Amino acid sequence: MPRLIVYSVLILLMVALIPPVVAARTRSTPSGNRPIHIIQDMDIQAKFKAQSVNPIFADGRAMRPEVVGSVARGETMLDAHREAGVVDGAWATSLPSSVELDLATVERGEGRFNIYCAPCHGWNGMGNGPVNQRAQELMDNAEGPPQGTSWTQARNLHDPGWSEQPIGQIYNTITNGKNSMAGYGSQISIEDRWAIALYVKALQRSQNASMQDVPVNERANLDR
Ligand code: HEC
Repeated sequence: MPRLIVYSVLILLMVALIPPVVAARTRSTPSGNRPIHIIQDMDIQAKFKAQSVNPIFADGRAMRPEVVGSVARGETMLDAHREAGVVDGAWATSLPSSVELDLATVERGEGRFNIYCAPCHGWNGMGNGPVNQRAQELMDNAEGPPQGTSWTQARNLHDPGWSEQPIGQIYNTITNGKNSMAGYGSQISIEDRWAIALYVKALQRSQNASMQDVPVNERANLDR
């Protein structure tokens, strides 16, 4: 085969490698530019962004206020017992009517507590969950607390003064947080927050339980 053809083929092969290399490099390099959109779909279209101006409306705002007389559905926030844990200006001592007082609710609360609360408060509520243990470990570190941070241990829910808190107050702590504990109102549904509060009450009660609290037919199964 003539050399010219061999060399031409080799050069062509090498040139053919350039586009994939450029594509691979472009794909792995972050860029502030919009990706090249060959098929536009509906990704790029005329629209008003939040807080922008729209001259069509008299007030010039693209974002429209609620229509007068709109009624919120599902989140009316009219039931202070269910939504705020308050009855007649005091912390509720009972569940709202939308939550059943039964074993299923306690078990639902146990599951949610173990997911959301136990990492800090511990499975038994005594404030020594794995997050607390790890934080203590870092605090005891010879080099001192990392970046000069400090750690507030999660409350032992059996502490005197806390173990007697009304269920509405516990519901409120879950919803809005307390001091250095963040609130879970945006992550946990209202019914689940009540279920967790109920489970906290059950956990607290478990520390002062007597044989009278155990159903008669269950007593024989207990190790004494
Ligand atoms: C990230 C760790 C963390 C998680 C997760 C957490 N807590 Fe706390 N909790 C704390 C800390 C810390 C405090 C003490 C706050 C303070 O007084 O500074 C506290 C305090 C409390 C108190 C006492 C509030 C009071 O009146 O002083 C209750 C009740 C409570 N938590 C319940 C819960 C429940 C129920 C959950 C799960 C939904 C939960 N916590 C999840 C860290 C946590």
